Amino acid sequence: SNRTFFVGGNFKLNGSKKLITEIVERLNNADLPSDVEVVIAPPAPYLALAVSLNKSKQVSVAGQNTYVKASGAYTGENSVEFLKDVGAKWVILGHSERRSYFHEDSELIAEKTKFAIDSGVKVILCVGELLEERKAGITLSVVEKQLDPVFAKVPKEKWASDIVVAYEPVWAIGTGLAATPDDAEETQLAIRKYIATKIGEAEAQKVRILYGGSANGKNATSFKDKKDVDGFLVGGASLKPEFIDIIKSRQ
Ligand code: G3H
Repeated sequence: SNRTFFVGGNFKLNGSKKLITEIVERLNNADLPSDVEVVIAPPAPYLALAVSLNKSKQVSVAGQNTYVKASGAYTGENSVEFLKDVGAKWVILGHSERRSYFHEDSELIAEKTKFAIDSGVKVILCVGELLEERKAGITLSVVEKQLDPVFAKVPKEKWASDIVVAYEPVWAIGTGLAATPDDAEETQLAIRKYIATKIGEAEAQKVRILYGGSANGKNATSFKDKKDVDGFLVGGASLKPEFIDIIKSRQ
């Protein structure tokens, strides 16, 4: 496809000055393929450190969450303006851990998405079904309902440039049980078709759709020929040297 391969690293609630430095220096020293875009998402207190250490134009930095206000009396929240100020270009929104542990619903996630994009920060928008939902055969309708409020708020022409969709089946996150490449492709093709009904086929063809859930240095190459898997959103393995193998998995 014409879509640039994209690998995101979501460090979640993991990090230290030492670990962030190790990870960024590993990226600086790696011979990254020229046709890959890498985005790392350290915890908020380490964003500025990651930006300042990064030497690669292909690598950018993301927040793991932001709020729907730029500033004010909202204790504990993060602003997209802070991301921009420290040089981060992206934010992860709608991660299943935000949806489940912090009770964020798809409406709020859509508001956050709109606010970030309107402020000039790009969004890695996460969607995905629970195991019960997959067993019940409702995966696609679950994902469609997660995306619908975003279609209502973000104009068609902004999707391809400002949103990367991460399909992360919740049963595959942190379990070591990644979706099979065939299952990921089947769902991601269906997601692209649904996106096409909302923003048109031509724009939908430009939207990157990532797979996330126990992606690692060993299984990443097995997704190589899946044409609707445009990259990965990596959790655990993004903290380790194998993150580089994932970034190189399309070579
Ligand atoms: O955002 C990343 C996903 O939650 C995947 O995490 O690679 O540790 O399974 P994982």
